[in-house]
Amino acid sequence: MLSVHHWTDKLFTFKTTRDQSLRFSNGHFTMIGLRVNDKPLLRAYSIVSANYEEHLEFLSIKVPDGPLTSRLQHIQPGDTIIVGRKPTGTLLIDYLLPGRRLYLLSTGTGLAPFMSIVRDPATYEKFEQVVLVHGVRQKDELAYHDLLVEHLPAHELLGDLVSSQLRYYPTVTRESYRNMGRVTDLIESGKLFADLGLPPLSAEEDRVMICGSPAMLRDLRHMLEGRGFAEGNTSRPGAFVIERAFAEQ
Ligand code: A2P
Repeated sequence: MLSVHHWTDKLFTFKTTRDQSLRFSNGHFTMIGLRVNDKPLLRAYSIVSANYEEHLEFLSIKVPDGPLTSRLQHIQPGDTIIVGRKPTGTLLIDYLLPGRRLYLLSTGTGLAPFMSIVRDPATYEKFEQVVLVHGVRQKDELAYHDLLVEHLPAHELLGDLVSSQLRYYPTVTRESYRNMGRVTDLIESGKLFADLGLPPLSAEEDRVMICGSPAMLRDLRHMLEGRGFAEGNTSRPGAFVIERAFAEQ
């Protein structure tokens, strides 16, 4: 463990060393965890850091009686955690058909894989515009807000791509904020597109990745299928792909 940052009393981020031989694609998840009573206790976590970075970074909720996160939330620099050697998953731009815009729709810790994807230059080669939506209950849960708004646009290598092609749309449901409402409602009402000055979702031009709670995935999948989007997977690319946000599930 290299460093830990607590965003709120329910949300934290940690960085670990990366084994030189660990390979992954941006958007992948892997199993991570701790040894508990001499046995590995592992859960799937999306990798927040990009695949060219030296370290690994993860975003986690803290579930008070969660077998893993109740322990993981107390980790300190210098502690050892287990990192699975076989990252995998469906949230890869390779599993999407070509398109003009890429919508990355997340709630809660579902933001994690998209942090990796928005730091991948290949994302901006494949799509003209990238829209990152992050829905949370309270504004202090907008993890990586400052990185997305300030640091990434100023980044020496990615800054130009991010400034010209990435739009970040944070939205809050349980207190007042500049953007409010659930991602589902914002799409349904068209407010998301009106706010961004973009056309409504189209299965011809737009591609979508979804990561969040089971209810959010179900609702968005239903909505997209109703609009003619076909789901992609690791063997057949589609107009949208889905991954659940994993912690303690
Ligand atoms: P809400 O406050 O209206 O429940 P959670 O912390 O429960 O995972 O929620 C994270 C964010 O996702 C909250 O803003 C929450 O809104 C929203 N959310 C919960 N369920 C859905 C859903 N089915 N579709 C879209 N957004 C959802």
